[in-house]
Amino acid sequence: MTSNDPIFEVQDVTLRFGGVTSLNNVSIQHERGEILSVIGPNGAGKTSLFNCLTGVYVPQEGSITFHPSVTKAINIVGRPPHRVAHAGVARTFQTSRMFNALTTFENVKIGVEARQKTGPIGAMLKLPRTRHEEKYSDQRSHELLEFVNLTHRTNTLADSLPYGDRRRLEIARALGTDPKVLLLDEPAAGTNPSEKLALAELINRINTELDISILLIEHDMKLVMSLAERIIVLNFGGVIAEGTPQQIQNNPLVIEAYLGASDEAKQ
Ligand SMILES: Nc1ncnc2c1ncn2[C@@H]1O[C@H](COP(=O)(O)OP(=O)(O)OP(=O)(O)O)[C@@H](O)[C@H]1O
Ligand SMILES: [Mg+2]
Repeated sequence: MTSNDPIFEVQDVTLRFGGVTSLNNVSIQHERGEILSVIGPNGAGKTSLFNCLTGVYVPQEGSITFHPSVTKAINIVGRPPHRVAHAGVARTFQTSRMFNALTTFENVKIGVEARQKTGPIGAMLKLPRTRHEEKYSDQRSHELLEFVNLTHRTNTLADSLPYGDRRRLEIARALGTDPKVLLLDEPAAGTNPSEKLALAELINRINTELDISILLIEHDMKLVMSLAERIIVLNFGGVIAEGTPQQIQNNPLVIEAYLGASDEAKQ
């Protein structure tokens, strides 16, 4: 698929760990504004791809270009994660990484402050020029909690949040960095059916109301099929299929590699 306005261009990316090839010559284009889903069996390389896109892993081969706007191109390979985040790429993690002893509000505020000039350290030291930023970050954190429907949990410790709320808090924190693209790594894992519905609605709102492109790794096929405009299928580190939800559902390679692989995938 070609376009004049991609947000991410991944070209011929290969990532190896010793003898293991996690990504094998992967090329992907993510269009600006698109909800693109990456699926594939366990160990297919999905999280490795996210780690490459966010600067956590540096692939041995290939290029990754992020376009925060139509006229800007940023080379991701070799750029440290905090600078990738600052450029406008936000993510959530497959396993939750909240500060359990902090409140919901404080967790979101850390996300907001990660983006500011002074940063969390300056904020902790209460440097004079941070007071204006502090006011902003308080206000922005409250807005984000409202956006993800967690206002009633503002002062709840992250540790004691129900699972679905916890996943929404992770998303709120990622949104705090004011991203252009949001990478979600299995956001529905461990949630119940009503939490899944609420999550799908939230992801759609992030995409349409905040105008943020979405890259979604998810094992729940129902959720993927209802949300994604396009799907990319990875298997053994390589792209084996790409297309609309309908094309993917009917692709024999995908059925063999993934949909037929386990009962979990058929949910
Ligand atoms: N830091 C690492 N060191 C060594 N091997 C790694 C590392 N990170 C990933 N791998 C390997 O890369 C392969 C792909 O793993 P990855 O976590 O990307 O899969 P995944 O598609 O996200 O799977 P899952 O659905 O289980 O989350 C696996 O074989 C994994 O063991
Ligand atoms: Mg993974």
